[in-house]
Amino acid sequence: MATLTKNEIKITTCETSKINSIDFSNLAFGQVFSDHMLTCDFKDGKWQSPEIVPYGPLTLEPSAKIFHYGQSIFEGMKAYKDANDNVFLFRPMDNIKRLNISAKRLAIPELPEAYFMEGLKALLDLDKDWIPTAEGSSLYIRPFIFASGEGFHASPANAYKFIIATAPSGAYFSGKVKVLIEEKYSRSANGGVGFAKAGGNYAGQFYPTQLAKDKGYQQVIWTDDTSHEYIEEAGAMNVFVRINDTLLTSPVSDRILDGITRKSILELAEAEGIKTEVRKVKVSELVEAAKNGSLKEMFGAGTAAVISPISGFGFRGEDFEIPEQDNSFGLQLKERIVAIQTNKTEDPYGWRMKV
Ligand code: COI
Repeated sequence: MATLTKNEIKITTCETSKINSIDFSNLAFGQVFSDHMLTCDFKDGKWQSPEIVPYGPLTLEPSAKIFHYGQSIFEGMKAYKDANDNVFLFRPMDNIKRLNISAKRLAIPELPEAYFMEGLKALLDLDKDWIPTAEGSSLYIRPFIFASGEGFHASPANAYKFIIATAPSGAYFSGKVKVLIEEKYSRSANGGVGFAKAGGNYAGQFYPTQLAKDKGYQQVIWTDDTSHEYIEEAGAMNVFVRINDTLLTSPVSDRILDGITRKSILELAEAEGIKTEVRKVKVSELVEAAKNGSLKEMFGAGTAAVISPISGFGFRGEDFEIPEQDNSFGLQLKERIVAIQTNKTEDPYGWRMKV
């Protein structure tokens, strides 16, 4: 396994920082980008040394396979800063592991863990002033790999680019999230790539999500592709449902992303004495629970979304509202996870990594 230390990474800094042009008190999600990015090429059969360069446009051949066959994967992470300017990541080793799981499925060469971790640490060292500290904000980190190698032959490329770009960001959702349960279109199928963070998984959701948006919903809740009887995930996040005092979420599978926030919530909930069940959840069960009042909460969970309450759902032309709870599990778990991420509390799990 290739090794690398932070000091071995070549760094070219930008001439003028853009940081003073950014309104840190009013950050959207992923709209402005920090001064530098990490880049690393795969060519001649191996990953070359990573470099840090000013954030900026790339030059690619029109025949680069990413444009034709969509060989592209990514991760989502966040960096946080505490009151003493210490910088933290949350479970970063899980991201590099998942990146390589995605890489394998998309026939992309796996990236050495040290290139990812040391590269990221060096990048954060350089751009640490870009980490916002206002509540609900963080430096969103987007590591990604795509096929830069050329050719129209439908086969894996012989060259790839790994890049980490970062964006000081506020909340992913602004306002309430109302979701539409989708029965016609599918996000993923058994044997497919639903479990991977493949760019195409997201592209395929845009059209059905746009249709849902036109009807007043912000996200689609995908159901399984065969029976459409079970809820699966929301694409930008995993989904949790609270029926009475039990928190339910679907098991991960070929079709569902193994979300890092998802699995952290399951552990935190157990520790907080909240009963959890990882099992398939029928749409009919959800509708029934909404009708009889036992559906207490629904929320999405993901790195970008953190924990985003779902205020209601639509199904077959009917809308179901989910009234706000006084003792919201979602809120309680969000406070717990954010406190761990931002070094405001002990981290008995060893999830927080000081950079
Ligand atoms: C994340 O939560 O980090 C993701 O990658 C989801 C993306 C749609 C923003």
